[in-house]
Amino acid sequence: MRGYCRIGLIFLVQICSLSGCGILSRPTENSPESTAENDLIVVGFAQIGAESDWRVANTESIMSTFTEENGFELVFNDGQQKFENQVKALRNFIQLEVDYIVLAPVVETGWDTVFAEVKAANIPLIISDRFVEVKDDSLYTAWVGSDFLSEGEKAIDWLNSYLESQGRADEEINIVELQGTLGSTAEIGRTEGIARKLAEKPNYHLIAIESADFIQSKAREVMGVLLQKHNEIGVVIAQNDNMAFGAIEAMKAAGKIPGKEIIVISFDAVRAAFNAMLAGDLNVSVECNPLHGPRVAEIIRKLEAGEPVEKKRYVDEAVFDQENAAEQLPARTY
Ligand code: AHR
Repeated sequence: MRGYCRIGLIFLVQICSLSGCGILSRPTENSPESTAENDLIVVGFAQIGAESDWRVANTESIMSTFTEENGFELVFNDGQQKFENQVKALRNFIQLEVDYIVLAPVVETGWDTVFAEVKAANIPLIISDRFVEVKDDSLYTAWVGSDFLSEGEKAIDWLNSYLESQGRADEEINIVELQGTLGSTAEIGRTEGIARKLAEKPNYHLIAIESADFIQSKAREVMGVLLQKHNEIGVVIAQNDNMAFGAIEAMKAAGKIPGKEIIVISFDAVRAAFNAMLAGDLNVSVECNPLHGPRVAEIIRKLEAGEPVEKKRYVDEAVFDQENAAEQLPARTY
């Protein structure tokens, strides 16, 4: 559906999400809205929410890429971290007859039915960030995102080298893990990657594992309770930076010294994590790159040109710790 004006589309989506309606009316081909900007590619983006600094950077990347100057009309939907909201958003995009649907899925499963509806509507579906588990992978066109399992493994590889460098390689180490949203690829992959590597180290003991939903305030609460229950925590692995920040706050409130008495490991490597590393509170952050806007746009451009696209594309990611944080900080863009 080329040529619908963005204001009209966003208005329709907002009306729909406010009223909870399922059926939308649309401007006719001759309506004033449809006469302008005829060649713009209309992209419906179903975002998860705004749960973390990473997510905010991801939204910014999408918004600054899918602009009119770049040839796009963006219809943005914030799912507020709820699967049902994302399903509703996809159905709204079908009603709006957008040209492409882009989904950052909150969890992996449950998508088969709505994806089949998208396919029946002949709308190419691109998935970014987290992945999905569907019976038929022809239901989506392409995926681009992170290798979350490898991120989890990298975190424990870093811990091994760090303890080795401190002469503590054989010490008994109690570990607490704060998971992200249960059932999300970021949680599933990191939990699995961490577990695989921990299994190789008999002196590492995972004494508690709890979800804080990738949210800083929840992590502060969860960590506060864990600190009361467990005296000898040597390492906290938070599955994102914001949960690490919450855990650090809880440690300080409990009179512990994060980064020293308790090693703190996290994921994402957002700007604030570099500041926490420079302050000595956070030991390491395994990068998870949120800048998917240009990557998704490249897929769409190729599809528009009739060129083949990769079905799955993993992005390159690094590991940053207190050793290299100062040098890397000026180059961080999120
Ligand atoms: O899916 C990526 C994860 O989601 C990031 O690690 C986290 O910060 C975000 O909420």
